[in-house]
Amino acid sequence: MFADSILPGHLKTEEEHRREVCAVGRWIHQRGFVASTDGNISIRLDSRRILTSPTATSKGMMAPNDLVITDLQGRKLAGHRNPSSELAMHLLIYQRRPDVNAVCHAHPPVATGYAAAGLPLNKALASEMVLALGCIPVARYGTPGTPELSEALEPLVPHYDALLMANHGVVTYGADLLTAFFRMETVEHFAQVTLVTELLGKQVLLSSGDVEKLLAARARYGSPTASQVGPECPVTSETSDSDGAGPGSCVTLTREELEALIEEAVRNDRARR
Ligand code: 13P
Repeated sequence: MFADSILPGHLKTEEEHRREVCAVGRWIHQRGFVASTDGNISIRLDSRRILTSPTATSKGMMAPNDLVITDLQGRKLAGHRNPSSELAMHLLIYQRRPDVNAVCHAHPPVATGYAAAGLPLNKALASEMVLALGCIPVARYGTPGTPELSEALEPLVPHYDALLMANHGVVTYGADLLTAFFRMETVEHFAQVTLVTELLGKQVLLSSGDVEKLLAARARYGSPTASQVGPECPVTSETSDSDGAGPGSCVTLTREELEALIEEAVRNDRARR
């Protein structure tokens, strides 16, 4: 279904959009990016109408007819269900990003773990990640389904294509639904890679020169992105505050090494008194 409808110049029918939202709902459910009735997906149908997943439904079990059409203020125009309780977050993204036509929100467990720890995925650890998304910041917490949530995301939306939402999940968006979904996959994949480097106790970051080359190569890969890059983002081997270990990173010590460090600190303290 996606194969035909992503051909250049193919103008999708509303029915195709509906089927694609259901397909992405199944994918995020099958991949464990959502549990129960979590997550929501939407598409900008045209300059006046949004097609959204319904609230309180498994996004892996939606039928095309379950989807809801609203206007850009969130007023229901068509559908027998109620729209997503987080539609306001989607509407904010459509409002702030005219280039965006699809939004995907899910709770993939590793990336959501980083969001719950307040840790951005902002290190230049993997070339594909720099190419695809640059940096993924953490938006401050806002109660789901309230204006607080949109307010927390608002300052970041113009600058990034994927956001961690503190103590909640992830939202990604793009020119079409496949792009928004791929960005969700990329965020979770990169979170897993980052977690493995933390378990191994070692992170070797790319240099600023490597990052510059990757950014220059973005056009070759056809991956234009709004994601911000700058001196601090992504963190490189030069901009990291220590040897490849940024704030929040872990060090591994043996018991003997830890005891020796404590004894030395106690000795130094006694000597100063
Ligand atoms: P909806 O079913 O209302 O879209 O909400 C799901 C969700 O993920 C809340 O965080």
